[in-house]
Amino acid sequence: MMRGRKERVGSGVVLALDVGGPYEERLKRAEGVLAATKEGIAGVKLNFHLLLPYGLTGLQAIRNTCEAEGIPLIADLKLNDIESTNLEAVETLSHFGVDGVIMNPFVGREEGLGSAIERVHQLQGGALLLVYMSHKGADEGYGLKTAGGEPLYRAFAKKAKQWGADGIVVSGRSPGKIAESREIVGDECLIFSPGIGAQGGELSKAAESGADFFIVGRAITESSDPRRSLHAFRQSQASFRGPKR
Ligand code: XMP
Repeated sequence: MMRGRKERVGSGVVLALDVGGPYEERLKRAEGVLAATKEGIAGVKLNFHLLLPYGLTGLQAIRNTCEAEGIPLIADLKLNDIESTNLEAVETLSHFGVDGVIMNPFVGREEGLGSAIERVHQLQGGALLLVYMSHKGADEGYGLKTAGGEPLYRAFAKKAKQWGADGIVVSGRSPGKIAESREIVGDECLIFSPGIGAQGGELSKAAESGADFFIVGRAITESSDPRRSLHAFRQSQASFRGPKR
C-alpha cells in the first residue's frame, strides 16, 4: 500500500499531522493542513497531538479524507506493552481505519509484539518497528551494546526482519544507521525516517542512505504555507537519483 501510494504521488513524504495549540482549534487546523497537502503525500502519521484530545472516534473526518484519497494512515504509539494490551491496541486501531502501527521491539516477541504483528497482518495492516530514534538522546537507549557488543539498533533491525515487520523506523538524522539498517533488513522491508526538517535531518541524505519514506511534521504543520513547504521536500526528493548502494 505504501509503495503504491509513493509511486502514484511521486513522493515519499509522510505527513506527521502534529498540530499543537488550543485544543478546540487543533482538529480544524489539522484538517486544513491535510486538505492543503493531501495530493502530494505518501501517508499520514498520527501522534499524541491529535490522538489524546480527540481519540480515534474524534478523528473520523481525517480518516475519511485519507480513505477517500488512498492515503495510508499510520499510528505512532510506539507500542510498548504486554501481548494482551498490544492486541487490544492493534484491534482498535484497525477498526478505526489505521493501516500501519509503529511498535517498539524493546518489549520482545514472546508475549510482547509477536501476536500483535500477526494480528496486524491478518487485518491487512503493516507493522513498523522502531530501530533508532531521531532525538539526540536516542543513543543512550538504542545505541546501548548487547552482551555480544552489538548496538541495540542493529539487533532491532535483525529482529524486524526475523519477526516479519513490514517496515522499520530509523532516524533521518543518522544516515549511517539508515545504511547499516538497510544492509540488515534487505530491500523488502521499508525504511521510514523521521527527524527531517524541524529536527535538522535532510531528506536527500536519508534518501541517499536508503530510506524509502520521510516523516515530516512541524516543518509542514507549522508552516504558513504547508503546501509550499511540502513542495520543497518533494523537490529535494525529485532531485535525488538513487541510493548509494
Ligand atoms: P517533526 O515535527 O520533528 O515530527 O518533523 C516528527 C514526528 O515523528 C515522531 N518521531 C518519531 N517517531 N520514531 C518514531 O516512531 C522516531 O524515531 C521518531 N522521531 C520522531 C515525532 O513524535 C513526531 O510525531
